[in-house]
Amino acid sequence: MHPFVTRRQVLLGGGLALLGAQRAALALESDDSGLARIARTNGLFYGAAVNSAPLTASDFSKAVIRDADVIVPEWEMKWGAIEKVRGDRQYGTSQRIVHFAKAHGLSVRGHALVWHRNIPAWAVEALNNKEYAVMQRHVRSMVANFGAVRDWDVVNEAIEPTHDRSDNLRRSPFLTALGPDYIGEAFRSARAESPGARLVYNDFGFEYEIDTHRARRRALIRLLERLKTTSVPIDAVGLQAHLVTRGLKFDPAAYAAFLKEIADLDLKIIITELDIQDTDLPASIGERDRILADETGRYLDAVLAQPAVIGVVTWGLSDRHTWLNSDPKAKRPDGLPSRPLPLDDRMERKPMWSAIANAFRNAPERS
Ligand code: XIL
Repeated sequence: MHPFVTRRQVLLGGGLALLGAQRAALALESDDSGLARIARTNGLFYGAAVNSAPLTASDFSKAVIRDADVIVPEWEMKWGAIEKVRGDRQYGTSQRIVHFAKAHGLSVRGHALVWHRNIPAWAVEALNNKEYAVMQRHVRSMVANFGAVRDWDVVNEAIEPTHDRSDNLRRSPFLTALGPDYIGEAFRSARAESPGARLVYNDFGFEYEIDTHRARRRALIRLLERLKTTSVPIDAVGLQAHLVTRGLKFDPAAYAAFLKEIADLDLKIIITELDIQDTDLPASIGERDRILADETGRYLDAVLAQPAVIGVVTWGLSDRHTWLNSDPKAKRPDGLPSRPLPLDDRMERKPMWSAIANAFRNAPERS
């Protein structure tokens, strides 16, 4: 099943997959080809996280339409945004994103149903009081309300080996309320509302050859094994991929082995939140952009060689809107704005854009 590709192909009349021949598709690629179109040529999808307000700027919305097949609400589908007051579910601004997608033939990835951050205060209290039904109710009402969303991050960031449990789960209000099976319960609740949606477990911190990332990789695989052996309805794993350039070592072979372990569990893989911090890089934009592009390309080349990987989403599209500019840990010491995304703040393509495009072009074709 490839809902993104099918939908846009029909709308654009591309029919590239039907042609099946990669070379014919490449011949159709012009300077205007956005990342999504290039990705599609090899059976992949490309998307970007967005907030509804910036989409009202025409240069930004044009860039999104040109480059992306999929958009992901960066904030507006989180529980804290939807139900600040218990029982008063406000879908308004998230619906704007859904309507934008519909109007332009894009798909929406839903993000994120069960996450320990951005939970409304009343829900934290309810969960701490073991009112376990509130989680299932939230999952079910979201999936039911957004029927057009066929791809959900159901559980986000549930592992945390430093929390010192033998199952490596994060100590969170969900764990307190329901115990370790809250993860299975969340997936079952989502499946009950949408038999055909792609249900995804999403997490961060796997890329580098440092102890914490190695421990997180092991913990993720163990968790996925447990979910599979207990028949939890999970379809895919989302790897956030918030890359850094602080001298941490990315080893393509070690990462490929990790991806293969996921694939061997019969799960698809999506890179869900790709961006790259430039905190320690020189001020020179030319030099900085080159390093960011090289690192991103090296990462994506390793990733896309694994056939279970079906798509890539960047956490934003243009440097004009990036969560990293409001994160003190990601701030550059010289105060210059960071450049973590494929387009600059005027919607011009950066070397990172080309690195992503090349990785898509060089990827083995998906069936
Ligand atoms: C971040 C958004 O980018 C911010 O705008 C928001 O304030 C907090 O969340 N991992 C995730 C994302 O799964 O939801 C986070 O997004 C970034 C880290």
